[in-house]
Amino acid sequence: MTAATDPVKLSKQEVGKAAAALVQSGSIVGLGTGSTTAYAIEFIGDRLKSGELKDIVGVPTSFQAEVLAKQYGIPLTTLDAIDHIDIAIDGADEVDPQKNLIKGGGAAHTREKVVDYLASRFIVVVDGGKLVDRLGSVFPVPVEVIPMAVTPVTLALKKLGGKPELRMGVKKAGPVITDQGNMVIDVKFDTIDDPENIEKILNNIPGVLENGIFVNCADVVLVGEVKDGQPVV
Ligand code: 5RP
Repeated sequence: MTAATDPVKLSKQEVGKAAAALVQSGSIVGLGTGSTTAYAIEFIGDRLKSGELKDIVGVPTSFQAEVLAKQYGIPLTTLDAIDHIDIAIDGADEVDPQKNLIKGGGAAHTREKVVDYLASRFIVVVDGGKLVDRLGSVFPVPVEVIPMAVTPVTLALKKLGGKPELRMGVKKAGPVITDQGNMVIDVKFDTIDDPENIEKILNNIPGVLENGIFVNCADVVLVGEVKDGQPVV
């Protein structure tokens, strides 16, 4: 299936475009990670190129976002040089009805959490397949762990009733390494009844840097779907 006909890709593209349209001239923009946000970054670049959008600066949440922003001509800054973020656009792996999220499918949730929580307006961009009644229904919770603590953290996650698995890279040649030089343990829970509590418990395990549960963070969730062959947001 090509990008033009694949309904999921079409809806990601459309939702990325809708989010990019929300960026205003003169703003500081948090640039998320993943295939959906990649479209938003591309469309922000298009708007800059056409002159419709002016004087924006981006804060990347990952090396991937940084590379894409440079490719599409978006000027970048760092958190050391600014005191606020006006709007952040980022994807998610699961979204519940309260707009709580699981993120980190791209192993970028630690930096994403810093940038997305700082933003005055955080726009989540997802295709319809990401909507769930309860977090953890499909996707495990990504937990970023410093390398020397992988074994004790794995044991602690088992004690909490989870099924932890060290995330491996392409062809399982080795573990995925984050932009911070750490590893990711994906932990599947049967149910996550209280995301706020689980988020805190996970971050309290020594050796854990950050986990992918985002509570009370998203302001708007844009959902892309394909109806009658046409992408809609
Ligand atoms: C990266 C993320 C992504 O935003 C999330 O995995 C969604 O990605 P995609 O838009 O490719 O489905 O959290 O760490």
